[in-house]
Amino acid sequence: MKPLIIALALILAAPLPAYAGPRTPRDLRDLAHQQGIRIGTAVDVAALRGEADYRDRLNREFNHVTAENAMKWESVEPERGVYTWADADAVVHNAQRNRQRVRGHTLVWHNQLPAWLTSGVADGTIGADELREILRDHITTQVRRYKGKIRAWDVVNEVVEEDGSMRQSIWLTHLGPGYIADAFRWAHRADPHAKLYVNDFNLEWNAPKIETTLSLVKDLQARGVPIDGIGFQGHLGIQYDYPGDWANVMRRFADLGLEVAITELDVRMVMPVTEEKLATQADYYRRALTDCLSVEACQELTVWGFTDRHSWVPGWFAGEGSACLLDENLTPKPAYRALLGVRA
Ligand code: G3I
Repeated sequence: MKPLIIALALILAAPLPAYAGPRTPRDLRDLAHQQGIRIGTAVDVAALRGEADYRDRLNREFNHVTAENAMKWESVEPERGVYTWADADAVVHNAQRNRQRVRGHTLVWHNQLPAWLTSGVADGTIGADELREILRDHITTQVRRYKGKIRAWDVVNEVVEEDGSMRQSIWLTHLGPGYIADAFRWAHRADPHAKLYVNDFNLEWNAPKIETTLSLVKDLQARGVPIDGIGFQGHLGIQYDYPGDWANVMRRFADLGLEVAITELDVRMVMPVTEEKLATQADYYRRALTDCLSVEACQELTVWGFTDRHSWVPGWFAGEGSACLLDENLTPKPAYRALLGVRA
């Protein structure tokens, strides 16, 4: 007995080895695993199909994906009643093969609607009752098709204007404000397990938009509408201040019981690229992840494309670019390394 007690005493008295902290993650997927979150990217389907280096990187780095354009209405129903699912399916199949979860983007938006729909509404051949049926069928058909395969849907996208008024989309104009609750209810009926989100930009900092969106969520909840999450798109630019209050804004939505996600993060800059601008960009990416990790309800950070080779930014903002984590050659930028260095 005595030797055992002595041995135990020696073990207990031995100094503990110093704790070195978590090791630096190998890549974003490893980082996601370490932090217990989802790190995703928007996927360009043409690149997914046609570029092996893009595909390899996508599947190595990310445990979560969003179709950049392939699930939008103009993509899935370009002609009335003619569904073209091939691109959306390609994203979902690739995700399944690579253990990636999927965000569905997006069911109700004012952009990228098929021409048959917008022109039919404009010339009056599609009236309000028919439009409501069309929207219900669209949501039901699409959500049902991917039932069990989509973790979360951006049910409504960008429904609040910058001044805090509700966006005057064809949906609001022709169906009235009830279309939002209807959309959530139809989506829930089609896949009761999918998490259902409101998604918007500038919600990181724009006070009128934040207040209106909070009221919208409270109103939906008061009426028993199945809403689960709030998506902050996070289209940032280093020429503007980092939205320093973002974590607090996230917390206000989390306090309503919602999941929080950063759904479309990118950080653009005025060209040309300099070392200094890349360092600032790295800091913005680092702060965005840090903000997310500081809020328990924020378990997803998705970037809107991971390579400058396929970024929406240069096409939309003249003279701006370099918004992604990797350059055109898929070489990691300082922002990529900054993310790997973030600790919760
Ligand atoms: O498909 C046509 C192709 O046939 C044609 O040859 C080509 C010529 O320009 O255009 C192609 O369509 C483009 C489409 O992306 C698919 O690549 C459109 O011109 C282009 O305007 C469209 O841009 C997309 C934009 O949404 C449209 O609103 C971007 O790729 C996409 O990144 C962007 O994503 C949005 C989110 O859905 C919502 N939040 C904001 C975000 C950035 O704008």
